[in-house]
Amino acid sequence: LMVKVNQPKADIQPTMWGVFFEDINLGADGGIYAEMVKNRSFEFFRPLMGWAVKRKAEGDVLVVNRKDVNTANPRYLRVTANNASKGDIELVNEGFRGMGIKKDLRYDFSFMYHQQQPGVKLTVELLDANGKSIGGTTITPQESGDAWHKATASFNATATELKGKLKITIEGNGIIDLDMISMFPGDTWKNRPGGMRADMVQLLADMKPGFIRFPGGCIVEGFDLSQRYQWKKTIGPVEERQLLINRWNFEFAHRPTPDYFQTFGLGFFEYFQLAEDIGAEPLPILNCGMACQFNSAEVATLDELDPYVQDALDLIEFANGDVSTKWGKVRSDMGHPTPFNLKMMGVGNENWGPQYVERLKIFTKAIKSKYPDFKLVNSSGTDPNGERFDYLNNELRKMNADIIDEHYYRKPEWFFENAKRYDSYPRNGSKIFGGEYAAQSDKTVSVDNRNCWLTALSEAAFMTGLERNADVVNMASYAPLFAHADGWQWTPDLIWVNNLKSYGTPDYYVQQLFSLNKGNKVVPITLNNDVVAGQDSLYAAAAIDTKTSELIIKLVNASNKAQETSLSLDGVKKLASQGSLTVLQSDDLMAVNSFNDPAKVSPKQSTIKLSGKKINLSAAPYSFSVLRVKI
Ligand code: AHR
Repeated sequence: LMVKVNQPKADIQPTMWGVFFEDINLGADGGIYAEMVKNRSFEFFRPLMGWAVKRKAEGDVLVVNRKDVNTANPRYLRVTANNASKGDIELVNEGFRGMGIKKDLRYDFSFMYHQQQPGVKLTVELLDANGKSIGGTTITPQESGDAWHKATASFNATATELKGKLKITIEGNGIIDLDMISMFPGDTWKNRPGGMRADMVQLLADMKPGFIRFPGGCIVEGFDLSQRYQWKKTIGPVEERQLLINRWNFEFAHRPTPDYFQTFGLGFFEYFQLAEDIGAEPLPILNCGMACQFNSAEVATLDELDPYVQDALDLIEFANGDVSTKWGKVRSDMGHPTPFNLKMMGVGNENWGPQYVERLKIFTKAIKSKYPDFKLVNSSGTDPNGERFDYLNNELRKMNADIIDEHYYRKPEWFFENAKRYDSYPRNGSKIFGGEYAAQSDKTVSVDNRNCWLTALSEAAFMTGLERNADVVNMASYAPLFAHADGWQWTPDLIWVNNLKSYGTPDYYVQQLFSLNKGNKVVPITLNNDVVAGQDSLYAAAAIDTKTSELIIKLVNASNKAQETSLSLDGVKKLASQGSLTVLQSDDLMAVNSFNDPAKVSPKQSTIKLSGKKINLSAAPYSFSVLRVKI
């Protein structure tokens, strides 16, 4: 192998490797958004879904609907206690497939209430899977009158439980109205009240992603337009955020009644904050006036498009405007006076056809005339080899699209075979965003898909081709990101979680290794003067990091034999006497990580001795190696 260290070919963008977030597989509600109470505001399809209610008498517990005065959060619970003693009136919440409870951890319980006079006491308890109490407290709401008040109480759990519940017992005399019954663990990310699950955010932070794309995916489009994602409904006080049924209930969930909702406690402000926390560029994707074409194919006519376009313009102001602007002030009032410095946005997700192109043109004109340097990501559908895709690519290139978003959910063979996909792409004009990809060990979205070493290895081979073509490919992200072991609708997924734990798949470690070893300039690596993309089952990319003066070699050996490679370095004055080698390897292509064995396929680091200007690298069978060496 020949590496021409002194002939940098292209810049690698800081955004090259990122993450794609969508509320699918309980990614947000029941996942990274740490709220433990399901249906906290009684707005689900069935108002008491998630709750088991015990009454003393008929009418003790009623769901009241104040639809005319509160359209965002109309329902609340009215509890009438008539000399109720312990055990008479109980509300038990099942959580999202149970509640993960950790021994000795603090739990922050809260609710909103109003009552004409104090008179009732609430006992709050965590229950283990057998119904035994494992911690709790009591609270006697003191405020009275017509206004709503918030009550809070914190307590520690006395045991660990994967599938716990929350029980609220109401005793005494009086009528109390309850809403937004909520509980968060005391160990949220950055200890933010009402925040996110720290272990899940940490897995993202550990990837040092260049960008985070949010909020999806198909949920951007909605099953129909009434169910599209509207960012303005996801900001401000949580009790005023209008929830939406999650599009991912329908097709794949196999549950009798839809129970998957987006409560938007994790909304656009929190997404921007998350991006900032993990050092990633925010990449919001907005609806382009078209619902999911796989579902309803509903479109907004062109003369109805203004509110959609206005949402895009207002989002830029929300992210970047100073406090003198309307939406900049909203952001500032939410606690972030400094701008989020948004530089790009996607218009449409997996939309296609002339209908998409004509809507896109309207968005592009409006956004670019106000913000000429702002970059727009355009969708190119889901079929990387099909006619629909060719049509769109042509149209988008004619429009001089900034960035074209390509999605590929394909077999591992496709990923190996497509390591050269971008070698022949036009070098001028539109850039590529590999916005969603994942190798499928079975059929796309099959329940039998596994995040095994074969899928990860094929992605690593493909990604060497993305990196080699970093002048064309500016961004890429695996999808979907998260899946809850008891609540998923789609496999494979990058990170698996249950109520207590999370782990990265082999695919996660591939993504992480590329991202942590990005470098900033591509340099040529060749075998007999050709790119290394499948000869002897080897795939390679080379980069330099001019800031740290390091050469970074990525080498995939997709064969079942160890391969001795020798790297000749052209243009290196001096090579350090040792380098750092990180290897991801398994002899078993079907190997997977799991809650019990989360690091079965995970990177192993070592130091290798070097001398002269040649590097001898032994690539183990079925391995992905990353070598860093000072030059
Ligand atoms: O990643 C899962 C889904 O795949 C996304 O929501 C959609 O964009 C794609 O079809």
